[in-house]
Parts: sequence; C-alpha cells; structure tokens
Amino acid sequence: METVLYTPRLGYYSGGAAKFGAAGDFVTAPEISPLFGETLAQYAAHILKPIKQGSILELGAGSGKLAVDLLHTLAQLDCLPQHYYILDLSADLQQRQRTTIEQRIPHLASRVSWLSALPEQFEGLILANEVLDAMPVHLAVWQNGSIAERGVLWEDQGLAWQDRILAEGELFDTAWQLPPTDRPSPLPYLSEISLANRHFIRSLATLLQRGTILLIDYGFGQSEYYHPQRHQGTLMCHYRHHAHDDPFFLPGLQDITSHVDFSAIAQTALDSGLQLTGYTTQTHFLINCGITDLLARTPADQPDDYLPQVSQVQRLISPAEMGELFKIIVLSKNIDGDTAAYGFMRGDLRRLL
Ligand SMILES: C[S@@+](CC[C@H](N)C(=O)[O-])C[C@H]1O[C@@H](n2cnc3c(N)ncnc32)[C@H](O)[C@@H]1O
Repeated sequence: METVLYTPRLGYYSGGAAKFGAAGDFVTAPEISPLFGETLAQYAAHILKPIKQGSILELGAGSGKLAVDLLHTLAQLDCLPQHYYILDLSADLQQRQRTTIEQRIPHLASRVSWLSALPEQFEGLILANEVLDAMPVHLAVWQNGSIAERGVLWEDQGLAWQDRILAEGELFDTAWQLPPTDRPSPLPYLSEISLANRHFIRSLATLLQRGTILLIDYGFGQSEYYHPQRHQGTLMCHYRHHAHDDPFFLPGLQDITSHVDFSAIAQTALDSGLQLTGYTTQTHFLINCGITDLLARTPADQPDDYLPQVSQVQRLISPAEMGELFKIIVLSKNIDGDTAAYGFMRGDLRRLL
C-alpha cells in the first residue's frame, strides 16, 4: 500500500493522477462545498481566539481547497492564524496547493508555508481531512490459535497474497489485543491494523504544546470495526468513481484506503497524554458548528444559488451519504475543555473505549 501510493513519481499520490473531483477517482468534503471549510472555520476561530499567536497545521491538504475556504472565512471573522502550515507527502499535490492558494487568495498566500516534516513544537489547531484512511495498513488474519500477516509477493507475472504466521513484534502484540482474538467465529477473520495511524497520533501528541487536533475520516469504534460481519476487512479501492476491493488492479493508478479504527486513535491519544475532547458524526459536528446557519444566508427565493447549496449540504450531512459514516474526533492538550468541545454541544458522543 505504501509502495503503490507513495513511491516518488510513480505512486498514486506522488504521481500526476487527477485524484480529486469529476476528472479524478473520488470526491472529498472540501471539494463538494465551500460550506464545509467555512463551517470548520467557525471551529478554528473558537480554538484560535484564546491562543494568542496560534497557527493552523493542515496535514494532507489535497488540492488546497480546504485551506482556501478556511483562510478566506477566518479573515472575514478577523481571526487569521499566525501561520497556516501544510505538510503533504505528495510533491504533485503540494504544487497544486500552491497554485490554488495563489490564484484564489493571493492576499493571504504569504501566511501559508509548506513543511517537509512535522514541526518539533506547535500551538493552535492541527487538522486532517481523510488523511488517516490514506495511511498504509497491515492486513492481519486471525486463525484458529494463531495470527498471520497477509503480505504481497510477485508470482507468475502478477501480484499475489501470501500469509506469514506472526509470533512477536508490534503487529502481533496489537492484533492479539483486538476483538477478533476473543471471538469464536467466523475464522479465519481478515482485517486491517493501522500501526501508521498509531505512530502518527503519538508524534502529534509529542509536538502539540497547546491546542487541538481535529481529525475527520470514515470509520468506526472497535466494536463495529472488528464486527463478525466485517470479516473481510474494510480495504477499498477507488478508480474513476468506482469503488471495488481489488488492490492489485492498476497499481499506482488507483487509490487504496481503509476505514479508520477510532478506538485505536482515542486509546493511543490518551496513552500519549492527550485528552479525548469529543467524537461524533460529521452530521452532528457540522450542525453544531453552524452549517445550516451558513446555508440560511442565501435566500431560498434565489433558487439558482440556494438549491445547489442545499444539495451540497445534503451530501455532507445526510446519514445516507457522508453524515453518518464520517466521524470527527477532537484531541486536545492544555486548552480549556469547554472551548475545545465546541462542535460537540448536541448530538451523540459515541462510546469509543
Ligand atoms: C484522500 S487525500 C485527502 C486530501 C484532502 N485533505 C481533502 O480532503 O481533499 C489524502 C491526502 O493525505 C496526504 N497524506 C497521506 N499520508 C500523509 C502523511 N503521513 N502526512 C501528510 N500527508 C499525508 C496525501 O498526499 C493526500 O494529500
């Protein structure tokens, strides 16, 4: 997964594929509507206000659209961050982000800078939309009395799976503690484990001095993630707006993702000294942060403007579309609990641990 997504120039994210939007393979929330970024800006303003000199660090900024919508709205709210840092593994996307920002918000472009590694220290808001799902996962197979790692080899001019029994190591230790180990059936049980997600949260916990980490992605808590009915895992591929489950199809030209285990994110955060501020669905978070109020600024008697926005908001918050599958988790450090919890006032705070 790491090779086909991130090999310089050849990997899906590193190469020149369109990726986002109608000409690409999938659509993300910032590409659906500016109301997504404008709503997140309400949250960002809330966090940045009490932190004098606070900045934003966006991880995996895609086309740069979310950065544009956030900065544009924060300028209107008179709450611009000191700096807007972007860290993205893809050189191709970094270039696109520069172009988008220079064209759309030239007056704010001087606030934006690109990092080649995580900073040592940070104060403010760290943000990542659909980045956790793009990190490489391990495949684990729970069998009768043992756990194997499923790997990929080159065989007969093609890619093929091969399992290797695990006896020790980080993957084995993590797999051993997960729910399929206690479950009698169905075996063999195949699923993903993201050590990369866990390492990433530990790194963020170390560098964050004061502020919050806002992560948005599709996934579940562990009881749903490792549910008996999900015994084939959650690995998914996207090619030209078709979702399928064959990761060997057109290596480097299609996206490969896995759902996020939010219990693992929460537990790793707590073990690393962060607070778990909130966890809820995208529907609840966006409504709590005022997406419907922002929509209401456009009069309903102007259908040419109003109706497309209604349909965009519907895609973002309808439980049948992104609203229920996508979750928001906020982790925080050294910041007032009520301030950080803006966005979680109403709605369900689901049990994760
Ligand atoms: C599915 S795209 C999402 C892009 C954007 N956030 C959006 O919502 O449109 C995943 C992004 O994460 C980046 N990425 C993946 N792993 C990363 C990491 N460890 N650090 C920074 N960026 C990463 C990819 O290069 C890509 O820009």
